[in-house]
Parts: sequence; structure tokens; C-alpha cells
Amino acid sequence: MKALTVLTQGPSETLALGRRIARWLKPGDTVNLVGELGVGKTVLAKGIAAGLGIDPATVTSPTFSLIHEYTGSMPLFHFDAYRLQRLEEWEDLGYEEYFRGNGVSVVEWGDLVEVYLPTEYLEIEINRETVPGDKRAIQIKAVGCRFDPVVRELGRELEHAGLGDRYSYGNR
Ligand SMILES: Nc1ncnc2c1ncn2[C@@H]1O[C@H](COP(=O)(O)OP(=O)(O)O)[C@@H](O)[C@H]1O
Ligand SMILES: [Mg+2]
Repeated sequence: MKALTVLTQGPSETLALGRRIARWLKPGDTVNLVGELGVGKTVLAKGIAAGLGIDPATVTSPTFSLIHEYTGSMPLFHFDAYRLQRLEEWEDLGYEEYFRGNGVSVVEWGDLVEVYLPTEYLEIEINRETVPGDKRAIQIKAVGCRFDPVVRELGRELEHAGLGDRYSYGNR
């Protein structure tokens, strides 16, 4: 499977990457954000929000409520599965309505609820490059064909933006 890996040097670059990603998203799309605590999943979600015309400062991690809903150029459903005690809680949310809905769903810790994710989604895994430090390796991959062109076009876009030295595209 082809994956795009982007290196960001700090939160503002991760935010900017989120904005770029948002341009390729359509209603009904799901993004799964994977990575350990404090790695930058919420920062990336803020960037996606900003790309949808939502003030990123209003976006906070829905750690206790499991979901926050925002209105931008299309709705953003921002989930966080970290504090989920039982999988039933996820079912009680009516998550399917959101995933099938008229907005973009961004799920932090989506790997914890992988069985409930749609068959096609964009998976973004963030890892610290050096500990401690501000560098992050952000791997973007398509699960299902819907997101193949998204990953490919994003790679082209980064190249055109002169960021060719900061990303790699290849088999993982
Ligand atoms: N390259 C980077 N990308 C994203 N966040 C970064 C980066 N470097 C440092 N940070 C910091 O890491 C923290 C990430 O926090 P957050 O997004 O809430 O993590 P998570 O949602 O994964 O638990 C923030 O304090 C942010 O400023
Ligand atoms: Mg978070």
C-alpha cells in the first residue's frame, strides 16, 4: 500500500498540513488519527477544521464528550475514542449517522474503534521523530480506493509547494 510521509517541524506546520488535507475531503469522508498521547492529533484536527472554515481556536479535544460538532463549509464531527470505557458507549453515540452524514468525521484514536470505522477512510499516523522535540513524521495512507487519489494528489501538491524534501511517497 502506498503511503505519503510528511515531516513537520512544529505545530504550525502540522496545522498547515491539516488545512491542505481538508481541501480534498468531501461530505461523508472519515479521517482516522492515530498516534500516542500528545503527538499532535488534535493539532491536525484543528488544521482540518481551519481548512473547512472553522476557527481552529474553538476546536478542542472531545475527550470527555466523545464528539464535538462544528459548522464550517460543511459540518465537522470531531471524535476522540481515548477515554472510551466500553464499546457500547460508541454505539450509543449513533456514530453511523455521523459517518454517513453530510460532514467530515475526524476520529482521534480511531484505532481503538477500528471495528466501527467505515470500510474506506484516510488513516493518518503521527510519530515523534526525536524525543523530545517538535518534529513529527506524519504518515498518510488510503484505506479503500476512495482515498488513493487524495494521497497521490496531496503528494503532488507538496511537491509543487517546494516541500519535496520534506515528504516521501512509497510502499510502506
Ligand atoms: N510538529 C508538531 N506537530 C504537532 N504538534 C506539535 C509538533 N511539535 C510540537 N507539538 C506540540 O505537541 C502537542 C500536541 O498536542 P495534541 O495535538 O493535543 O496531541 P494529541 O491530540 O495527539 O494528544 C502540542 O502541545 C503541540 O504544540
Ligand atoms: Mg487529542
